[in-house]
Amino acid sequence: MIAVAITGASGPILGIRLIEELLNSGKPVYAVVSDAAWSVIAHELSYRKAGPAPLAALLSKRGRTSSLKLLKEFDSHDFFSPLASGSSPFEAMAVAPCSMKTLSAAASGYADSLITRACDVALKEKRKLILVPRETPLSAIHLENMLKLSRAGAVILPPVLGFYSRPGTIDDMVDFVTGKILNLLGVKHRLFKSWEEQASATAAKTGKRKAP
Ligand SMILES: Cc1cc2nc3c(=O)[nH]c(=O)nc-3n(C[C@H](O)[C@H](O)[C@H](O)COP(=O)(O)O)c2cc1C
Repeated sequence: MIAVAITGASGPILGIRLIEELLNSGKPVYAVVSDAAWSVIAHELSYRKAGPAPLAALLSKRGRTSSLKLLKEFDSHDFFSPLASGSSPFEAMAVAPCSMKTLSAAASGYADSLITRACDVALKEKRKLILVPRETPLSAIHLENMLKLSRAGAVILPPVLGFYSRPGTIDDMVDFVTGKILNLLGVKHRLFKSWEEQASATAAKTGKRKAP
């Protein structure tokens, strides 16, 4: 089971696409969306939180998930969720996007919400923790928090584009970052071609040899 948290940075679509892809590949997902993330979702995706399972309702509306049976969502203040405990069976956790506030809390062990508590659990239990920090430019405080977390075992995966995949749409860009997270989680996907495949395709088109 993979834990996915969406926090209130720009780009909640990154976490949403990640959850869709995990579910579509048969991976059970425990998901948490922060209050601030719901505000950003309303602003960026024109979707208002509604009902007892708001994330499932959003995914259902998007219609890109084959089944929602593998999804469990938790309120971001629910410390009785299994994600709050070291005995929880989650094998890895991704926070996508990760706000600078959640980054800071995770870097200092300030477990004031289910998301920051689950980050704390992931670090103390030596599970994979992938953080997708979204802010620009970055202050020395942001960078120090990232370094601290990286030294504590987290993977810092900023949503930085690889132009070699020749993205043509925002969907392509989102899928590129989502694919990078899935690679780290060891989940197979077809969201983008590897650099090798891309270079071969370009070489075939242009007749030029690939760069070494
Ligand atoms: C539309 C919108 C966009 C935001 N974008 C970012 C962002 O890209 N990065 C960031 O660190 N905070 C951003 N914020 C501020 C966070 O939402 C705020 O710091 C919040 O307290 C984060 O809470 P959370 O980490 O519990 O989700 C944004 C807020 C809004 C309303």
